[in-house]
Amino acid sequence: MEKLELNNKRILLTGAAGFIGAHLALRLLRDCDRSVIVGVDDMNAYYDPALKEYRLGLIREAQKTSGSRFEFVKGSIADKALMTHLGETYAFDIVVNLAAQAGVRYSIDHPDVYIESNLIGFFNILELCRHSYDGGKPGVQHLVYASSSSVYGGNQKVPFAVEDPVDHPVSLYAATKKSNELMAHAYAKLYNVPATGLRFFTVYGPAGRPDMFYYSAAEKLCRGETIRIFNYGSCKRDFTYVDDVVEGVIRVMRGAPEKKTGADGLPVPPYAVYNIGGGRPENLMDFVSVLVEALMRADVLPADFDLESHLEPVPMQPGDVPVTFADSAALERDFGFCPQTGIREGLGAFAEWYRDYRKN
Ligand SMILES: NC(=O)c1ccc[n+]([C@@H]2O[C@H](COP(=O)([O-])OP(=O)(O)OC[C@H]3O[C@@H](n4cnc5c(N)ncnc54)[C@H](O)[C@@H]3O)[C@@H](O)[C@H]2O)c1
Repeated sequence: MEKLELNNKRILLTGAAGFIGAHLALRLLRDCDRSVIVGVDDMNAYYDPALKEYRLGLIREAQKTSGSRFEFVKGSIADKALMTHLGETYAFDIVVNLAAQAGVRYSIDHPDVYIESNLIGFFNILELCRHSYDGGKPGVQHLVYASSSSVYGGNQKVPFAVEDPVDHPVSLYAATKKSNELMAHAYAKLYNVPATGLRFFTVYGPAGRPDMFYYSAAEKLCRGETIRIFNYGSCKRDFTYVDDVVEGVIRVMRGAPEKKTGADGLPVPPYAVYNIGGGRPENLMDFVSVLVEALMRADVLPADFDLESHLEPVPMQPGDVPVTFADSAALERDFGFCPQTGIREGLGAFAEWYRDYRKN
């Protein structure tokens, strides 16, 4: 593994106003010295852009006391001219691609945007990396990009390991994420771009995504509405707290797959894929109970809140899978880290943030 410093680096962070991207930007500003972090985000309205603005506000605040600089660029990674321009202007050392159209269900009715952002956009990121070496320049030393646990589709074998076959996606979203892994492999082989894909498992936490179950459930319960319990509650998810994901991403950024030459005289692809998940799948109903307890503790829901009367059991939705369960042994082996935060602590932090965010 090639060890990389994160100080005094030029870092491209796409999806910087997004949930994980903003948390990562905050952590980089806290930890890095003399680095320039260029955050790109198109600020689309898939969910309330005000939340993206709020996250950018947190980043600007953190910037004031940081030894590094954050520059925001509003634009799409699918805009090739913009990506080429940014690559040439900044000569990035490290690229972290988190920009994507997320969400399994949305991909069923809105396939175009997945092709645009997740395939064309990712292609532009790969091209930026490839051309960063033009003229013998050192170029991008590590591309880290978001994949997803959804690539495992309906795999029955648990826990999900990176070596398991993932050739049967059950949503277009999953198909684009698997495609990213394939495209990155080809660019690693052809152009020696060191690339690491991270399969995230249901990330949650403060300033999270309103389209995700825990957040939308909190909103509905606060409005006195019922929440739908998919697959009649027989559903398990490996939830990962956002700080754990950020810790994993930072560690991975610091360790690029090594460049080597193979017997054919061509690069052995400097390429890796890891799961980031706690490996402790939670039953959906247990998760909901802990969420409601956390919301009651944070005074978001009344102490006598009756959860039972707010539940609506429904069948499984197209594109969904009954269980996700990460085998993160490879991450632990190579980076000495495995997510640890339990849902009581994680949902507690979410509930407190949610209370304060609603007030403002
Ligand atoms: N949160 C999870 O549970 C989870 C799980 C698996 C994978 N992922 C992946 O992790 C990454 C980050 O997810 P997140 O939860 O922070 O989602 P998010 O939607 O909050 O963040 C993505 C950000 O990318 C931006 N974006 C989308 N398309 C863009 C484009 N074409 N150009 C520039 N910006 C664009 C969005 O405006 C958004 O701010 C995504 O790639 C997602 O697919 C997330």
